[in-house]
Amino acid sequence: MLTAYDYPTAAILDEAGIDIILVGDSLGMVILGYENTTEVTIEDMLHHVKAVSRGSKHSLIVADLPFLTYHTGKYEAVRNAGRLVQEGKANAVKLEGGTEVIKQTKAIINAGIPVMGHIGLTPQSINQLGGYYIQGKSEEKAKKLLEDAMALEEAGAFAIVLECIPTELAKLITEKVEIPTIGIGAGSDCDGQVLVTNDILNLYSNMVPKFVKQYANLQDEIIKAASNYIRDVKQKAFPSKEHVFHIKQDVIDSIYGGGKKS
Ligand code: KIV
Repeated sequence: MLTAYDYPTAAILDEAGIDIILVGDSLGMVILGYENTTEVTIEDMLHHVKAVSRGSKHSLIVADLPFLTYHTGKYEAVRNAGRLVQEGKANAVKLEGGTEVIKQTKAIINAGIPVMGHIGLTPQSINQLGGYYIQGKSEEKAKKLLEDAMALEEAGAFAIVLECIPTELAKLITEKVEIPTIGIGAGSDCDGQVLVTNDILNLYSNMVPKFVKQYANLQDEIIKAASNYIRDVKQKAFPSKEHVFHIKQDVIDSIYGGGKKS
């Protein structure tokens, strides 16, 4: 699974054969320049989910329910999940949390919408967590995460993202639940992996977590391309012969004497 937030990226990832495209609320940080994901609204999400679904033909599209769109109760959770499916054309939604969001998870599933869970480091709770730290290191917290995973499975979630937890705990959770676990900073024993596309392409350098592997450096490529363009325009090396269009000289001559200045 990789993230996408726009039409061309979705089409490229789809062509690359990615199983799942996540329209994550990481959108807020890597695309919209927000400080964290708590600023992302359902309207922000819809705008980008629509673009992604237009770009993807084969991949399953999972859309994040943003902060405060499912916390206040079942009705709002179903309503907002429904909008992501009906207006955004997402195939499934993802929401953060474990036992605290089981009622909402069940209600959304009962409305016919598949739900992916997300536990461990849950960025929408950044103000409570106090930072982007590894989760589940103590016995009590590790036990709570295992309970969360089992509760989500019991509620009917079809997969669970495990973010930033010790690899041994991710392995244990993966063994204990039947549904696939998808790790991000959770080691290689998960059933699948997810990363933020802008991180693996070096298109967002404000915060690069330790668990990210960079597969390309598009920031450097874009800087190189833009600098070459600026140089070419200034030196009149662009546009050159192959980039221009022509009309007959007599047409030009018939317009105000061929544009000659008197
Ligand atoms: O918003 C997002 O991109 C995510 C992934 C980091 C799992 O939730």
